[in-house]
Amino acid sequence: MSEPVGIAVIGCGNISNQYLKNLTRFPDVKVLFCADIDIERAKSQASAYDVPESGGVQQALDHPGVELAVNLTIPVAHAEVATAAIEAGKHVWNEKPLALDMDAARALLIAAEEKGVRVGCAPDTVLGAGIQSARRLIASGTIGTPLTALTLLQGPGPQAWHPDPEFLFAVGAGPLFDLGPYYLSTLATLFGPANRVAAVGRKPSATREIAAGPRAGTEFGVDVPTYVSVLAEYASGQAASLLFSWDSPLSRYGFVEITGSEATLAVPDPNGFGGDLRLRRLGDQDWTVVPSHGATAGRGMGVLDMVRGIRRGEPHRASAEIALHVLEMMVAIERSAAAASFEPVASSFDAPEPLDAEWDPYVAGS
Ligand SMILES: NC(=O)c1ccc[n+]([C@@H]2O[C@H](COP(=O)([O-])OP(=O)(O)OC[C@H]3O[C@@H](n4cnc5c(N)ncnc54)[C@H](O)[C@@H]3O)[C@@H](O)[C@H]2O)c1
Repeated sequence: MSEPVGIAVIGCGNISNQYLKNLTRFPDVKVLFCADIDIERAKSQASAYDVPESGGVQQALDHPGVELAVNLTIPVAHAEVATAAIEAGKHVWNEKPLALDMDAARALLIAAEEKGVRVGCAPDTVLGAGIQSARRLIASGTIGTPLTALTLLQGPGPQAWHPDPEFLFAVGAGPLFDLGPYYLSTLATLFGPANRVAAVGRKPSATREIAAGPRAGTEFGVDVPTYVSVLAEYASGQAASLLFSWDSPLSRYGFVEITGSEATLAVPDPNGFGGDLRLRRLGDQDWTVVPSHGATAGRGMGVLDMVRGIRRGEPHRASAEIALHVLEMMVAIERSAAAASFEPVASSFDAPEPLDAEWDPYVAGS
């Protein structure tokens, strides 16, 4: 059995809890360092999850045992932190989005190639039992020829629960950039690459108020559209309608339906790892539940698949190429909403190998 891969978690905010809880349980990895610009935060997360060292970003990158940096900073810092990690010769797992724009994302991938290190990117929910089971079911022909998709994400917005939500309304976020990657990556997994998008965007309110945590009542500015309605066309012929809205008192999320020539398949929430599928054939009066099979270990599964790929010399699944394609889709969607035009999407990717239903996060090298 090979040595566990040493990891530094950079960015010890809200989502670092889920990553640290999981990564400290996977035997193929060893979390060696917690880093943040807020050193106290890094220290407190290191102590909460029994991580031996903590400190600033450069200290993490200078650590000789760290092979891979898990970048959980806010979107505006993703490219800068990832570039620093690559410069230090570390592999990088980035939270989504890969970067704020295509130039920064491409520069990141070129730097990684030159240094001979890998880049992986969230969301890794596409590796969970729910979406992997949907992929297997579609490949088996159960819904016939996949034709269209309908996805819905609507609600009042994350100022309702996030204690520091400003970054979620800044460039690089909004419902499209923050939650779009889950839905767009799911359709990328099930349909392959897209080649054209069109969209309408709205920003009904220029400011919002924090509703939770110690800063409740604080007003902040909204920089991006908070309602985005999208049409997408896929290279394999499918079409999709997607809604991303934080302007709805009614909350409805995790809605992904794939319609084929023989049946409609309801896919579980793409922001989660498990959940049952539901199937409805022509003439059915109700849904048939189809249990999903596979791993549901949560955030960090993509990092684990990446380190296993590194040790075996095999490609990892949540690849930078898919993240780059999803980023290009989001940038094209924004451009379309501004220009009222269809926008081409040029990048592509090779579909990763499906994840085996027996893949076990808790058995080293499984
Ligand atoms: N909160 C969620 O539910 C959630 C879910 C999935 C993904 N994400 C993604 O995870 C990332 C982080 O989200 P969050 O909610 O944890 O944010 P957060 O604001 O709670 O935490 C971000 C942390 O990064 C640190 N940071 C910022 N810039 C830095 C820099 N240049 N160097 C080092 N540290 C820096 C901050 O001090 C903070 O501790 C975002 O990309 C977000 O899209 C969040």
